[in-house]
Amino acid sequence: MIQNIIYISKADKELSKFEIKELVFFARVKNREEKITGFLIHQNGYFIQWIEGPSENVLHLLEKIKQDSRHQSLKVLVNRKLESPVYNNWRMRYLTDIEKLKIGDFESLYSESGGKDIVDILNKIMLDFVA
Ligand SMILES: Cc1cc2nc3c(=O)[nH]c(=O)nc-3n(C[C@H](O)[C@H](O)[C@H](O)COP(=O)(O)O)c2cc1C
Repeated sequence: MIQNIIYISKADKELSKFEIKELVFFARVKNREEKITGFLIHQNGYFIQWIEGPSENVLHLLEKIKQDSRHQSLKVLVNRKLESPVYNNWRMRYLTDIEKLKIGDFESLYSESGGKDIVDILNKIMLDFVA
């Protein structure tokens, strides 16, 4: 069994493209060591991240991410066990400015804490990217 966490947070508005690239580059190196996979969406001032991997590693990473000043107000939307990773070849895929996602989607995701549909919504979006 592995751990899967999905969270939404409010990104620091001052973050530059370069700083985000740096963040993602670092995350990929680190995640390889930690056997962590998933994706990070940066859109309309929010981050949504899907993290999956060995339980201890994932929970430890979440604690670090929670304290990271590059974003605020992190809300965990999903915290569950999975038989096996879903995105096991994405060390941390980065997606930004996804046309299909409207601003409203993120605001309601945040205020409604995702609801039960978040996993389906994200899986559908990702299917479009691998198709
Ligand atoms: C939105 C966001 C996503 C992040 N994703 C990851 C990640 O997938 N893997 C990772 O190692 N660090 C990630 N980080 C960075 C961590 O918060 C933290 O800076 C990093 O683990 C370094 O911690 P350390 O220097 O104490 O080892 C992310 C940070 C932010 C703001």
